[in-house]
Amino acid sequence: MVIGVPKEIKQGETRVAVVPSTCRRLVDGGNRVLVEAGAGAAAGFADEAYAEAGAALAPGAAVVFAEADLIVKVKEPQPAELEQFREGQALFTYLHLAAAPAVAQALCSRRVLGIGYETIEGPGGSLPVLKPMSQVAGRLSVQVGAWFLMSSQGGAGVLPGGVPGVERGHIVILGLGNAGSEACRMAVGLGARVTVLDIDRAKLEHLEERFPGLVNTLVSTPSRVAEAVAAADLVIGAVLVAGARAPRVVSREMVRSMAPRRVVVDIAIDQGGCVETIRPTSHKEPVYLEEGVLHYAVPNMPALVGRTATLALTQVTEPYLLRMAKDGIDAALEAVPGLEKGVNTRDGRVVHPAVAAALAAE
Ligand SMILES: NC(=O)c1ccc[n+]([C@@H]2O[C@H](COP(=O)([O-])OP(=O)(O)OC[C@H]3O[C@@H](n4cnc5c(N)ncnc54)[C@H](O)[C@@H]3O)[C@@H](O)[C@H]2O)c1
Repeated sequence: MVIGVPKEIKQGETRVAVVPSTCRRLVDGGNRVLVEAGAGAAAGFADEAYAEAGAALAPGAAVVFAEADLIVKVKEPQPAELEQFREGQALFTYLHLAAAPAVAQALCSRRVLGIGYETIEGPGGSLPVLKPMSQVAGRLSVQVGAWFLMSSQGGAGVLPGGVPGVERGHIVILGLGNAGSEACRMAVGLGARVTVLDIDRAKLEHLEERFPGLVNTLVSTPSRVAEAVAAADLVIGAVLVAGARAPRVVSREMVRSMAPRRVVVDIAIDQGGCVETIRPTSHKEPVYLEEGVLHYAVPNMPALVGRTATLALTQVTEPYLLRMAKDGIDAALEAVPGLEKGVNTRDGRVVHPAVAAALAAE
């Protein structure tokens, strides 16, 4: 099989989808790996390391797209990449199609087999390939939020941990999954006052056991969310219904009720965002002011820490990739538990039920 690894071109992206050690395993298994020159540079993997691992270096993305049977990426294809897909090609990457109808349409019209990392399932319905990036984004969300709360960044000048004699900042986390629980851990570590809301009581109970007395847990209802958000210095949105568009948990009115120059970080922006006033931002212009509140909604937050994020991502994608390369994609989809759930587009149609429903509702 020819496996192609283009350089990521989404604004500010620094991750790479395949590291040299995985290339070596793929090549030793009889595959050809074609890596675009410079693909790993921002994550600290030089072209020489890929060459030493047996990969062929391609001078540009065009060669990769022209020759590969399977394209392996990090982020959803950008318009310039979508044009280059060939009929029957397979793609293994984060897709987040529920929030990207144009990408879904382009993949269908080119009959690309699109396997989305974010819907691959593990035991008990877990999302093993979404998890590490959610953990990275969750931990980052508190750092990023604390940064934009600073006066120099346009924030209200609130130090989340406070100091003795002065009230601590209040961090409200919506959704206690992979991202939310890591955000919580960082928020507690900073010494902030922390409130967490989720619809899953068991998760809240577990959190109370983990951080006894250090977090305020609430079952999420619209009125409790409204109360918590109104009193927040930093709101972190981390809700998810797998494959579907993120539920709108925070209304415009709730944002308006916040004190001036507080901060919203909506991690769920890649699924459309869970805050009514949110729209995607980029690493170049990460925040905007609306209703007097700073909004941060970068869909590829882990790119801020490309080295860590690449290592975390490739650890979980490697076993799937090796299996597809060894057995063929169709055989691997049949044999590897949960991998089939990653199939979002096939034979010109969106086949993942939640993704299809979300797109139909657009
Ligand atoms: N912006 C980025 O760079 C980035 C990076 C990684 C992940 N993400 C996104 O972060 C989001 C969260 O991912 P995750 O892995 O933590 O998901 P997860 O499934 O582990 O957790 C989601 C949580 O949301 C809760 N939830 C659902 N509806 C809710 C509601 N109405 N009120 C309160 N809680 C509710 C669920 O019970 C669950 O605990 C996803 O959209 C994911 O794609 C974004």
